Amino acid sequence: MIDEIRRIQASSGSQIAQASTLDGLAEIERSLTGKGSELLGLKKGLGALSPDERRETGLVMNEASEAIKAAVAARRAELEAEAQLALAQAERLDLTEVRADRDAGHLHLVTQTIEELEDVFVGLGFHVAEGPEVEDDWHNFTALNFGQYHPARDMQDTFFVGLGGPRDVVMRTHTSPVQIRVMEGQQPPIYSVMPGRVYRNEATDATHLAVFHQLECLVIDRGITFAHLAGTIDRFTKAYFGPGWTSRLRPSYFPFTEPSAEFDIQRPDGTWLELGGCGMVHPNVLANCGIDPEEFSGFAFGFGLDRLASTRHGVTDLRELASTDIRFLEQF
Ligand code: PHE
Repeated sequence: MIDEIRRIQASSGSQIAQASTLDGLAEIERSLTGKGSELLGLKKGLGALSPDERRETGLVMNEASEAIKAAVAARRAELEAEAQLALAQAERLDLTEVRADRDAGHLHLVTQTIEELEDVFVGLGFHVAEGPEVEDDWHNFTALNFGQYHPARDMQDTFFVGLGGPRDVVMRTHTSPVQIRVMEGQQPPIYSVMPGRVYRNEATDATHLAVFHQLECLVIDRGITFAHLAGTIDRFTKAYFGPGWTSRLRPSYFPFTEPSAEFDIQRPDGTWLELGGCGMVHPNVLANCGIDPEEFSGFAFGFGLDRLASTRHGVTDLRELASTDIRFLEQF
């Protein structure tokens, strides 16, 4: 009987290994150890043996049962892992998939505009830099030469964030704080553009948004003059809109530039669009960032991207840019 038990145990291994599904494995387990199995039949015969034989055969019988149980459990674990893997593969979502049809959606007009302008400026040799939208007073105002009680702080209707002291933390009101971050992080020469979202606490209408986008341009090097500023603005206007477009500067005031100007661009039909501010970086600002104003000079300008894009694409109400209306969005 012992030989027979050993034979069953020996042949069970290859049967178990051949099971290719969990159901199949259960079937094989039943046929090896369940009702009507050879092993169970032999077990019933144990009672007819002498006590000594019974003990010896019983031990072999237990050994065989345990071995079969362990082999089944091991194969079950393997099959379960395979099933998991197959399921994961069947339900796999390829998030990198690119679909050519329009239903797949596309980048928002503002994002497209940022990318296009970045290309224009990278083509002119600029780097692209970024900064946080929640800013501290130093970067948004103080380092930019806004004195603590300077009335120009009120030009920028500010959303304050409930962190730190009463007016310590703000939603950045412009992209100029990124100038400070760039200058704090590196010595000239600096040729950088800084696109980003900005916030102003004001009522929205067709030409104003409370959350909008600007692009800032900063150049710091030896011998930089106002002519470089005017030339760069005109160059990018033509690169973005086309050869028929020009720009002009009007005297203005910003605490962080001296002299300062506003700049407008002229459409081919002769009408003007007020776009942004600019000027030569104020010596105090350079000094605040550890750059020697005796050695270096520079210019900066910043403008509203939403207006720029709307002008080029004939969008008459800026609020459309913040809408989720697919009939508007799919046009671009
Ligand atoms: N940051 C200014 C604004 O948002 C624009 C500006 C940028 C002016 C750079 C001068 C130089 O109003």
